[in-house]
Amino acid sequence: MVGVWCLVTWMNLGRPSKLRLVELGPGRGTLMSDLLRGAGSFPEFAQALEVELVEISPALRRAQWVALRCTGGEQRSGVGSGGGETGVGEGGGGGQDAVEGTSSVSGGGVRVRWRATLDEVPQEGPPTVYLAHEFFDALPVHQFVRDKGGRNWLEKMVDVAEPSDPGPHHLRFVLSPGQTPAAALLVPRRLAALVDEERRGVQALEVSAHGMATAERLALRVGAHGGAALVIDYGRGSPPYTDSLIAIRQHKGVHALSRPGTADLSAWVDFGALRLAAEGSGAAVEVHGPVSQAQLLLSLGIQARAQTLADVATSEGQAQALAAAFHRLVGQDEGGMGRSYQAMAIVQGGLPAPVGLYKRGTLRLLQDQANATNPTAAAPNATAAAPNATAAAPNATAGAPHSDGDADEAGGTRK
Ligand SMILES: C[S@@+](CC[C@H](N)C(=O)[O-])C[C@H]1O[C@@H](n2cnc3c(N)ncnc32)[C@H](O)[C@@H]1O
Repeated sequence: MVGVWCLVTWMNLGRPSKLRLVELGPGRGTLMSDLLRGAGSFPEFAQALEVELVEISPALRRAQWVALRCTGGEQRSGVGSGGGETGVGEGGGGGQDAVEGTSSVSGGGVRVRWRATLDEVPQEGPPTVYLAHEFFDALPVHQFVRDKGGRNWLEKMVDVAEPSDPGPHHLRFVLSPGQTPAAALLVPRRLAALVDEERRGVQALEVSAHGMATAERLALRVGAHGGAALVIDYGRGSPPYTDSLIAIRQHKGVHALSRPGTADLSAWVDFGALRLAAEGSGAAVEVHGPVSQAQLLLSLGIQARAQTLADVATSEGQAQALAAAFHRLVGQDEGGMGRSYQAMAIVQGGLPAPVGLYKRGTLRLLQDQANATNPTAAAPNATAAAPNATAAAPNATAGAPHSDGDADEAGGTRK
């Protein structure tokens, strides 16, 4: 479905002969691998593509190299050695420095490069489509709390625990003694973008400066060099979160200070802050959304796709797995990914509104479709939807770059 979005965006861009596709935080490479396979049905589009993967984890780079059935780049990097499908993170040599910037070719013949940061992706050249699926939730957040008098904003910091009371983690959260530079910079900016009703009574605030800076950079790139960016993640447009940070180790929630570096940290994405940063950049872009994932996927035709797969289901088990995956992706019930996941696009000025992110007027019809869908009626090809039992709890699949916890297991229900 994300591939369809890229295809339509490429058409909106006037079918350029070259299109750079950049994915931020590709995890195990499943989304890009599905996308490139689907692109094979549209030769002109497929031939235009060159891929850049922004990934900080060497182990996940190796997983991506395998998932995309790459050749090349392995001599210098060693990404391809060390046990194939199951060798991710084991042996294989190679490393962050060696892989960066080396060029490989995917099984479908598309050139693929890896970068450790967005800044390393060239800005010059063809128009670029940026994809960030469950990337922003993995970025660090600041947390602020109003002081007792209500005038100053203090920042939650990490301190060494008292020797007399070390606790289980030997670390503790404390409040800064006064206003920190981050509080002075971020809090007024985020609060100013809220409507009066939301702003009143806010006693705590969570802001990802890293997320905002990334959204700003994406807007500046898209505005100056052409293209679009699509962000899909769990979160909401407003009001901002106060404390959504969680840590996951081996699919279980743990304390955020428990053995730092061994669990994935994740926070719900404040799309309002991303919009604020993109619009505040002054770039020649238009920001669309956030809209619910249900709206995006239904607009892109997920229902027809599910029906096509249902028509060729070969067993009752397949049918039920597809139905469950479909319902999970577009389900509007509390906690369903159709509602808890949101999508936002940043497009170069003057392009048509991106598919699936139209104005809210279309939402009711789409929601009606999602609600009317009986999950037991559709049927499937289970491999296409790859249902993942943990996906309904979005954070359970989040990866973190510096963790040896779940990062190698990053995944989720495919879109
Ligand atoms: C939760 S996983 C998402 C994986 C994949 N996009 C998906 O939806 O299944 C987050 C990904 O972002 C990567 N990542 C996190 N922070 C990053 C950073 N600052 N720079 C580059 N990659 C980062 C992680 O290593 C991982 O690949």
